[in-house]
Amino acid sequence: MENHSLLSLTVALLGFLCPCLTRLTPRVSFPLGSPGRHLTRFSSHDVSNTTTLLLSEGGDTLYVGARDAVLALDVSHEDAIILRNKLDWSPSDRDLEQCSMKGKKVADCPNFIRVLQFYNISHIYACGTFAFSPRCTYINSETLTMSMKPDEGRSRCPYDPYQRNTAIIVDGELYTGTVADYRGNRPVISRHLSEGRHVDLKLDDTLGWLEDPTFISSSLIPDEEKIYFFFSEVGREYDFIDKFIVSRVSQICMSDIGGQRTLQRRWTTFAKAQLLCQADNELPYNVIQDIDTLPPAEGAPADDTLFYGIFTSQWSVNSGRSAICSFRLKDIKSVFSGNYKVLNRDTLQWSTRVQEKVANPGECGLHNASDNALRFVKENFLADDSVRPAGRSLTMVSAEHYSHLTVQRVQTANNRDYTVLFLLTESGYLHKSVLLQTGTHIIEEVQVFEQPQPVKSLKLSVPKGVIYVGTSEGVVRVPIANCSFYWTCAQCILARDPFCGWDPANRACVEASNTQISLGQDVDRGNVEEACNSVTLTHRARFGPNSLPAASCPAGELVSVSLNEVVRLQCPAASRLSQQLWERPNSRLSSDLYLHLGDGSLSFVATPATLGHYLCLSTENGYQQTTAIYHVKQKSSPVAQTPTSYTRLQTHPIPTTQVVARPGPGLLTSERPKRKKMRQGETEPTLSSKDPQVVTRQLGRNFTLWTQESGQTDADSRDGKPLQSARGPCYLKELVVVSVLLVLCLSSLITIFLYVVRQRCRHQTVPQAGTPSRESDRRTPVEQEALRGNQFLSKRNGQSLRSGQASGLGCNGTLTGSNGHLPNTPI
Ligand SMILES: *[C@@H]1O[C@H](CO)[C@@H](O)[C@H](O)[C@H]1NC(C)=O
Ligand SMILES: *[C@@H]1O[C@H](CO)[C@@H](O)[C@H](O)[C@H]1NC(C)=O
Ligand SMILES: *[C@@H]1O[C@H](CO)[C@@H](O)[C@H](O)[C@H]1NC(C)=O
Ligand SMILES: *[C@@H]1O[C@H](CO)[C@@H](O)[C@H](O)[C@H]1NC(C)=O
Repeated sequence: MENHSLLSLTVALLGFLCPCLTRLTPRVSFPLGSPGRHLTRFSSHDVSNTTTLLLSEGGDTLYVGARDAVLALDVSHEDAIILRNKLDWSPSDRDLEQCSMKGKKVADCPNFIRVLQFYNISHIYACGTFAFSPRCTYINSETLTMSMKPDEGRSRCPYDPYQRNTAIIVDGELYTGTVADYRGNRPVISRHLSEGRHVDLKLDDTLGWLEDPTFISSSLIPDEEKIYFFFSEVGREYDFIDKFIVSRVSQICMSDIGGQRTLQRRWTTFAKAQLLCQADNELPYNVIQDIDTLPPAEGAPADDTLFYGIFTSQWSVNSGRSAICSFRLKDIKSVFSGNYKVLNRDTLQWSTRVQEKVANPGECGLHNASDNALRFVKENFLADDSVRPAGRSLTMVSAEHYSHLTVQRVQTANNRDYTVLFLLTESGYLHKSVLLQTGTHIIEEVQVFEQPQPVKSLKLSVPKGVIYVGTSEGVVRVPIANCSFYWTCAQCILARDPFCGWDPANRACVEASNTQISLGQDVDRGNVEEACNSVTLTHRARFGPNSLPAASCPAGELVSVSLNEVVRLQCPAASRLSQQLWERPNSRLSSDLYLHLGDGSLSFVATPATLGHYLCLSTENGYQQTTAIYHVKQKSSPVAQTPTSYTRLQTHPIPTTQVVARPGPGLLTSERPKRKKMRQGETEPTLSSKDPQVVTRQLGRNFTLWTQESGQTDADSRDGKPLQSARGPCYLKELVVVSVLLVLCLSSLITIFLYVVRQRCRHQTVPQAGTPSRESDRRTPVEQEALRGNQFLSKRNGQSLRSGQASGLGCNGTLTGSNGHLPNTPI
């Protein structure tokens, strides 16, 4: 029994520990429906699988490819998404009948729209799976009507709605990557809708230019007149590993018109290379999941274009994790202009053999080349080198399973550029992270859906500052920032959100792009002292508009207790990256008297020695602020109680035990089931010793205080109610003493453990430098040592800060100054 519970405790603690070892923690979290982030949703009972998204130029209309329908949504209103037009486009009953006769599931036979692209200024080009017999059509973008009878959509759109594809229209020509047959084993990259000398082109399929690929994305680089395709496929060059998946980038030139005899109506400019998302001495993250293009900064050359991709691993060692890698266009180009692998046509084995270059594979304008040259490029299409990530390191590694991303460059108030990644997790959260020199900082997470969604897509609207998430159930609009959520200068700076800055004149955290005035901001370091001082920070401004003048030391929240009662004071976390600590003026919080609980709260028994002021301080990124002040006072109770000494406490341990044994109540009122809420000072009407009642006090709007009315047990025994002590007073005392000792031991162990965990968490969540992939569990002894040194250092820093602060105790902030808001507590 004992072992069992210990085991489960360990498991529970490990469960707590594991995620923070490997997870970069988002600083704040907005669950579904939280007031800090208003999501706008579009869904309708007759609209489903809304997963293909296309945004109009100005960002006012969102076209959506759904099941059996194309929609035009009016997204120009802030508070709602309105259906403007709908085109129904479903297979006939006969088509459906044939589809299910071919052995397909009825649920997969509808027309799932998988290609949706602007064709010209008045028309959209759309393709759907159409009962496993793909069709394409032109749709008037205003009226959303089909302008002619649908065409056959072979090799433009997959047959199977679960197969991934990619499509892009450039200058009226459609470039696609998809499978071109019913069974799904003839993959092609092809061009359609070409006119004149520009003929439709496809891949030569005699040499296996593609090996069972999964298409992810395609991207036009205008300066290069090239289109790049991203996909994963079986890496045949690794013939010593069965079915080794590799991620690829491939290219084709838009000017390509095929060869004259050799490679007639086939690409003469196709080349592919491996994308390697791998840290030194580790297994590669080999399966690309999504990729987005970040155009170069204004004035920078096209070569600086970056592609940010999500990669997962084929192997179970890294399962559930994902890595983000970025690739520079310059590196991709240099790999394509290098050497190519040679395929032995008899053994079908790849080798690296230095050969005379008859032509440059991947070069544009080869259509006029000799047959000899074209034969050479036909056979040499796999670049010998792999494309390595920019900076030769992974951008980040996460324990989250990310599936989609979109990337944006943000210019801040002080004219600095930051790269912000929006990452969608499989579990339905959108992470906003900013890439810093020191590593990745996850500013926040916003929950966008509850149920896992089989297919989803992301669309960023930079002009409107929103992201659209398309899922099986509908479309969700997520504002990319809500600066007003950070309502103090400190919180605004600590967020390190490049979209937000502190406006000292209006004392508000505002969107950085909208203003010309100089804002307080420090995305790189989040240094509050500097950023807020530079915008004339006063003590009062720190704690909101209602702060009392520094001269009048605030009493804080009054907590009336009876002696001997177990008091529990809550300490609200300013963010998930903050550390809480407790302080008393002119006194130490000895661990004999005080219990620091895992949720940051402080528990102790009310004795004359423990009455007085308590401060909860929250430290984040070297900045300390007071988040709560309590004044614990003895209740002027009519029932006179003898003052209880500390020794007496040990023989009266039941309440303490209870506090330890109970899981800590959450900070949120909604997390307190089955417990009676009491007004301050009120006593419990009935009590049994087996279940000492817990009194909840609402402090301000968000502060909750828990106390246990232990003094009541005495009253109960006087009433003659059955009490443990009444049954076996002689043994009970010993038993109780032993269990108290045990509990105290255990709890201090847990406290130490949690403290260590917290320290570790902090180190994990502090943006990691260098290769963040290296988890602490794989650290070398030297690294471990270094880390420990670090911890010690940061602890010491905390201490010195603390003592500096203690002198100004209680005067630098007040609870009521918080507007009843917790500074930045995720709601
Ligand atoms: C931003 O946060 C504030 C404070 O929580 C909230 O009142 C407001 O509605 C939020 N705005 C949006 C657009 O989410
Ligand atoms: C756009 O393309 C459609 C379909 O080919 C055609 O009917 C329409 O006239 C074109 N519109 C313009 C403005 O070129
Ligand atoms: C292609 O070759 C033909 C002769 O075969 C020549 O007339 C033509 O000018 C060449 N075109 C280009 C673009 O080089
Ligand atoms: C369509 O959505 C339903 C859930 O609404 C999902 O079960 C199904 O897999 C989706 N189909 C496709 C092809 O994505």
